[in-house]
This record gives sequence, C-alpha cells and structure tokens, in this order.
Amino acid sequence: MNVGFIGIGKLGMACAEVMSTKHTVTGYDIYRKNSDKIKIVDELSDAVLGQDIVFIAVQTPHDPQYDGSAPIAHLPNKDFNYQTVTQVLKQVNCWTRPDQLVVLISTVLPGTVRGELKQHITNARFIYNPYLIAMGSVEWDMVNPEMVIIGTEDGSLTGDAQELIEFYQTLMENNPRYEVGTWDEAECIKVFYNTFISAKIGLANMIQDVAIKQGNINVDVVTNALANSTMRIMGPKYMTAGLGDAGPCHPRDNIALRYLADRLNLGYDLFDAIMNAREIQAKNMAEFIYCWSQDTKLPVYIHGKAYKPDVAYLEGSYSLLVGHFLEKMGVEVHYIDPLTEPEVPRSVCGVVLLAHNKQITYGYAGVQDEQQLYCTIEDGSVIIDPWRKYITNNTNIKVIHYGNTRI
Ligand SMILES: NC(=O)c1ccc[n+]([C@@H]2O[C@H](COP(=O)([O-])OP(=O)(O)OC[C@H]3O[C@@H](n4cnc5c(N)ncnc54)[C@H](O)[C@@H]3O)[C@@H](O)[C@H]2O)c1
Repeated sequence: MNVGFIGIGKLGMACAEVMSTKHTVTGYDIYRKNSDKIKIVDELSDAVLGQDIVFIAVQTPHDPQYDGSAPIAHLPNKDFNYQTVTQVLKQVNCWTRPDQLVVLISTVLPGTVRGELKQHITNARFIYNPYLIAMGSVEWDMVNPEMVIIGTEDGSLTGDAQELIEFYQTLMENNPRYEVGTWDEAECIKVFYNTFISAKIGLANMIQDVAIKQGNINVDVVTNALANSTMRIMGPKYMTAGLGDAGPCHPRDNIALRYLADRLNLGYDLFDAIMNAREIQAKNMAEFIYCWSQDTKLPVYIHGKAYKPDVAYLEGSYSLLVGHFLEKMGVEVHYIDPLTEPEVPRSVCGVVLLAHNKQITYGYAGVQDEQQLYCTIEDGSVIIDPWRKYITNNTNIKVIHYGNTRI
C-alpha cells in the first residue's frame, strides 16, 4: 500500500520505518528528518496525495511542568494540548479524498475525537488508532502489540476498520487481538490501559513502603504471592463493571489499610481514594435510579439485598449502600431477596435494580447458570441492569444496561 505518515517524531519515525518493510511510506514533519528507509517530503500535501492510508502521529503535549519528573499531584488538572493535531487534521483535509483512510495515532482523552477532532476531516474516512508502544522498544512493540485498538464512528467492524486490520496483518509478528470500538471506546482503552499500569505500580510500591516502614518484610515475597494469584487478582476476574466491592471483608480491610497507612506514616492514603470512589459510585447509581423513578412515578425495588447472590449476609452490602443514598433522596426502597427477606412478592411493577448476578459473582467457580429473577417483573417496569446481561423479548418492559451508552 501507499502510506503517508505525518509527524515522524519519537513514535512516528520508528513506526513509519517498520511499515516501510512491507509498504511504500512517505513521511512529512515540520522539522527536517532523515531516514534511509522512508521517503521524506517537504510538503504535507505530498504525504497525503495518492496515499491509501495517512497516519498522523503529531504530539498532543501536556504542559511541560506536568511530565511527572517533579511533583505534579498538587497542580490543577489539565487536558492534553490538541492545537497541533487540529491544525494537521485541517491541513490533511485539504488534500484527502473519500477513498483514503485518515488514521490518528496521537493520544487524546475520551470524547476528544467526536467532540473536537472529527469535524476537521470531512473529505475522507476517519479512524482513531492509538498505539500501546513504549520508548526503547518501539519497533518490537509495533509488530508485537498486546492488541491493536481501532476506533470508528459507530464501533462496528466497518470496511474502514477491516481495511486497517488487513494492513496491520501484513506487518504483525504475533497475530494480535484487534479491539474495534467507537472512537470514544478506543480513547478509553488507550488511556485506561496506561492508568491501570500506574495504579498497579502504585499498589506494588505501596507494599514496598510498608516493608520499609514496618520491618521484617521482603516486598518481593508479598508481590510474588500476589502476582501468582491468577484466580482473582491477575486475570479477568473483577473486570466487569457493576456494583461495588462488598461483603464482610473488603470494605473493612480497606479501612484498616487506611489506618495502617496513617500508623506507618506513609504520607499518602490510596485507599481513601478507593473507598471514596466506591461510595460515590453507589451515589451516582442511586441518582440514576432516582431519575427513572421520578420520570415514571414508579416505586423502587432493589433485586438482591445480600452482598452477593445465594448468601444471607448483609455485611458490606452494596445494595444497601445504593439504598442508603436513595433513601437520603427521599425514596422508599423495597428489597427483593429470598434469603434475607421474610417474604418475596410474587410480582412487582417498578424501577428495579438487578443487584445480583450469579454468573458474574461465581463465574470463576464454574457457575454458568443465568441469574433467575426472584419474582415476576410486570409490564410497565424499568429494569436497570448494572451487569448488562438481562434481555427480554417483552417490549413492555424497558431494560437499561447501566454502563452501556452506545446508541
Ligand atoms: N512516544 C511514544 O512512545 C508514544 C507511545 C504511544 C503514543 N504516543 C503518542 O503519539 C503522539 C506522538 O508522540 P511522540 O512521542 O512521537 O511525539 P514527538 O514530539 O516525538 O513527535 C511528534 C512529531 O510531530 C512533528 N510535528 C509537529 N507539528 C507538526 C506539523 N504541523 N506537521 C507535521 N509534523 C509536525 C514534530 O516535529 C515531531 O517530530 C503523542 O500523542 C503521544 O502521546 C507516543
């Protein structure tokens, strides 16, 4: 294929050169660059005209004082700077045609492509394709990625996405996953991938701090034991968004760790943020339910009161936490749970939060059974499913998959 590459900096040059092993690559940068592998042109138009795909990897810088080599946590929050990307997209649009794919690689925050950038590409098809590539191993990462992230307008595997996949298949050495989503989902995958890494390192280094301050602890003994815990910690378990962490152990363990962080004078409290998020997430869910109950004038039911299905324990129940916030908003909350309530109604009509899901909770133990409803839900009801599993053919019931805002 004929490939144009705009912005041949730290990432772009290495990627363009890798692409040149199989394709004809023409690069353009505002600064003069040299390469013995790709053709370098002096005009942006020469890197666009006649190309099948035009990649853009110009910088989306943060404020120079935000690079993290000096303290930044106290600084006001700031988005990346999209001036260069915007300017390049406008210029590219002047020379593109509908049969060309314009592919943006540069890192942007969720919502940026749809809200700010796409509007500048009116003459060609537009894909957001952020890279998971690290300095020092750019060439290897490029052809051995953990996944290739491809964002299109509606997230479907359109011809555009397929065309890009076929292009990458000519280059990849490791037959990677291709994760195709909306522009917004692709933006999320990229930025949450990186911040998951930050969170993981932050936790591991917290154990290091505890080792230093507490004594008699080799941090590697602890982190290796956790790293080998593939049943729950290192694996897909707990990667389904839904209700928050619950039960008699976790919430109180987090509180105890906050105490430990204080006693050891770590100087920070990660679990303050985690516990706070757990609570505000319940409040956000309660507000969502509240809005539906206000709109429909229906009573609110929480389907599942125990902290998980098939047990009668209420300690640390997230259903109760959501109920707590609803009650603070003046809503009377009715719980449906055969193991905690003296009676389960035969049927209800209301706004119903499906708090329990057996498959999600016990999937790791091989449980495949679908979560059964504890009672019949009548026509006119609104079901809010935070696990996004419930489906029905009954068009008289509105089912909302909380967390899925694709149209
Ligand atoms: N470097 C990485 O490892 C890496 C990894 C993943 C994603 N990214 C993302 O890729 C993007 C580029 O990162 P980078 O590290 O290569 O940045 P960089 O600053 O090294 O490269 C950007 C290049 O774009 C050029 N440029 C600036 N304005 C231009 C214009 N108007 N026309 C043409 N070229 C122009 C610059 O001269 C520079 O060579 C960023 O959004 C970054 O977040 C980088």
